[in-house]
Amino acid sequence: MSLYSVLPDDLNPQCLPNHVAVIMDGNGRWANQRGLPRVVGHRQGAKILKDLLRCCKDWGIGALTAYAFSTENWRRPTSEVDFLMVLFEKMLRKELKEMHREGVCIRFIGELEALSPSLQAEIKRAMEETADNTGIDFNVAINYGSRSEIVQACQQVAQKVERGELSSEAISEEILSQHLYTAGSDPDLLIRTSGEQRLSNFLLWQLAYTEMYFTRAFWPDFDRGEFHRALQTYQQRDRRFGNAKDGVTEAKNQVAKRVKEPVLTA
Ligand code: FPP
Repeated sequence: MSLYSVLPDDLNPQCLPNHVAVIMDGNGRWANQRGLPRVVGHRQGAKILKDLLRCCKDWGIGALTAYAFSTENWRRPTSEVDFLMVLFEKMLRKELKEMHREGVCIRFIGELEALSPSLQAEIKRAMEETADNTGIDFNVAINYGSRSEIVQACQQVAQKVERGELSSEAISEEILSQHLYTAGSDPDLLIRTSGEQRLSNFLLWQLAYTEMYFTRAFWPDFDRGEFHRALQTYQQRDRRFGNAKDGVTEAKNQVAKRVKEPVLTA
């Protein structure tokens, strides 16, 4: 069995994040450092994402959300944008069968209508085919912008008020949350690679209580060892959600105590 194929011993299976989000940054710099075209970094980045998805599944994490293309990324050179769009489509064509077999439920989030008809068709097929899978949820954000997502959610809620289906007093965080693409599943851990420490319009609402982990590693180098380090850091955090001490932390401490306690034999 290869290293990292199962959850490393020093990680507590009871206190893993259920939902991990990643901002995959540094593909271009990774390639530049090697004297390679930027797109080679994106190709390697796609391989890393594929392995991280499998790793999450192997280690018992319930959902992975990846920021693949923001609404601002259209400003990049056309050749790079075209490469990325073709890469998304090719990956879907190539990997769909295997992901389906492994129980991955794929969802794409973002303003998908702006994508090419052929990419939209692949996305639709992937989402339909894998909709009932329960192994792991895999959300890919393409042409995604969080402020725009929140505005759209507000518009949908406002329309319900206009139609008399909802009173304005009844609008709650819960209701707004349900109108976001992620519909109520907030990440427990956000990872951003390449040393940048900002959110770049990603899941602004959903990250309200998320633990953030920033690493200098470029995304194409973010392997299982790097992910292990991120989870070690996550498990050292004390998540309080605004409370002095919360149930999650209490449970974590209990489990940690149990793990450390010597086993008494007769
Ligand atoms: C940011 O690095 C990365 C992107 C804008 C693209 C991310 C896409 C992938 C890793 C491919 C994912 C594939 C699928 C199938 C979803 P950057 O180019 O901004 O790097 P830099 O900051 O070093 O220039």
